[in-house]
Amino acid sequence: MIKIAVLVSGGGTNLQALIDAQKAGAFPNGKIVLVMASNPKAYALERAKNAGIESVVVSRKSFDDPADYDRAVVETLQSRGIDLVVLAGFLSILGKPVIDAYPERILNIHPSLIPSFCGAGFYGLRVHQAALDYGVKITGATVHLVNEIPDGGRILLQKAVEVLPGDTPELLQKRVMEQAEWKLLPQAVAMLCEQLEQEKGN
Ligand code: GAR
Repeated sequence: MIKIAVLVSGGGTNLQALIDAQKAGAFPNGKIVLVMASNPKAYALERAKNAGIESVVVSRKSFDDPADYDRAVVETLQSRGIDLVVLAGFLSILGKPVIDAYPERILNIHPSLIPSFCGAGFYGLRVHQAALDYGVKITGATVHLVNEIPDGGRILLQKAVEVLPGDTPELLQKRVMEQAEWKLLPQAVAMLCEQLEQEKGN
């Protein structure tokens, strides 16, 4: 069984999509065993509680040294035997020690078609605002592996979504979530769980 940790910072609709997909049997060889939030006010924590999943808050602000924060993240994950880490609206940047502890084992969902509107400073509604400001007619979502370059790791899945006349960042965010993110993320988790399970068997 692949043990999954989902890292969150906000509302947690992508976490909810994963919880629902797990219930529906979308990734039978994986199990979400931990939700880690960067912020104690994240509504995602409520979703974890409702689903009976252990949750923990590890906040960058409570560490003076970034290396101590990265160490705490790795310890939190390794102490639960986590195999796969999923960033689902997680807004803290993870340092090299975390990435080295989970090479090609960290997934991120980003609400645009990478390489557009991505990298440092592009998160949440800002991404959709940037897409509207540029005037693109197509945007979407991307699931990729996490390396040391923000939004720079290997792309696993992408899905395009239309931008419509009269869109606001909020409307566009909702459409991208509904049409792309909530489908792509469980699909990517299923892919990775299958791959990791096979590797374990070899
Ligand atoms: C999602 O749209 C996710 O793609 C985005 O934040 C939102 C979180 O929503 N992530 C990023 O912008 C990362 N660069 P959620 O908390 O409801 O899942």
